[in-house]
Amino acid sequence: MSNSLINTLRRKSKTLWIDFYIQRKSLRGTVASLDGNKMMYDTASTSYDMIKIIFFNYFKLADRDIIVDVGCGKGRVFNYLLYRGLTNKMIGYEINEMVANELKQNLSRYKNVEILSENIFENFPTHANVFYMFNPFKEGMMQDFKECIWKMKDNNPVILYYNPTCLNVFDDNRFVYDIKTISGIMNDSKQAGWHYDKLAIIRIKPVNS
Ligand SMILES: C[S@@+](CC[C@H](N)C(=O)[O-])C[C@H]1O[C@@H](n2cnc3c(N)ncnc32)[C@H](O)[C@@H]1O
Repeated sequence: MSNSLINTLRRKSKTLWIDFYIQRKSLRGTVASLDGNKMMYDTASTSYDMIKIIFFNYFKLADRDIIVDVGCGKGRVFNYLLYRGLTNKMIGYEINEMVANELKQNLSRYKNVEILSENIFENFPTHANVFYMFNPFKEGMMQDFKECIWKMKDNNPVILYYNPTCLNVFDDNRFVYDIKTISGIMNDSKQAGWHYDKLAIIRIKPVNS
């Protein structure tokens, strides 16, 4: 058996293991966007390899950070953080009610996790400070999101924006960002030819800079 086949099998079995360990089911596959991709994207998951790198290499969470997954989909981001033993408050918003309700049920034993079957703009979590996003929505909504973040600037919010397709929205002198290129990850997306390797870490611009 070739090395790459062995690695693929290892990665798939690890993915399945974490899916089952936390949610007792496989979370494979995508769910079509509620609006046919007009303003919002399909429910697709960040891979566990990528979540590991984002949250453990590029951004270190502090115990009191309150993490929001903006459009949490099937919940693999929280799955991984829970699998690693994190006990931070985690809040997932998912506009697709069916997807959200199932996730809420699957994670109900984790008292630090709250899943809200809501449009995030209707109940914006102004007490949180770390916002993770993997392609929830397009530019119009991203502008609204930016203004919501600006209103809560005193919390020092940080946005971890994976595959930042609307990063231009943050080309705004109130914000600063770093772009990281994540290399060395082979996952299903890479094999399928749509590998996403960029992470933007966005913050409010410090007053004196
Ligand atoms: C590409 S998925 C990402 C799932 C998850 N964050 C991950 O990385 O595994 C984006 C999700 O955002 C949801 N979404 C889009 N707009 C939203 C909104 N305004 N409020 C809540 N969820 C939203 C979509 O329904 C979709 O499930």
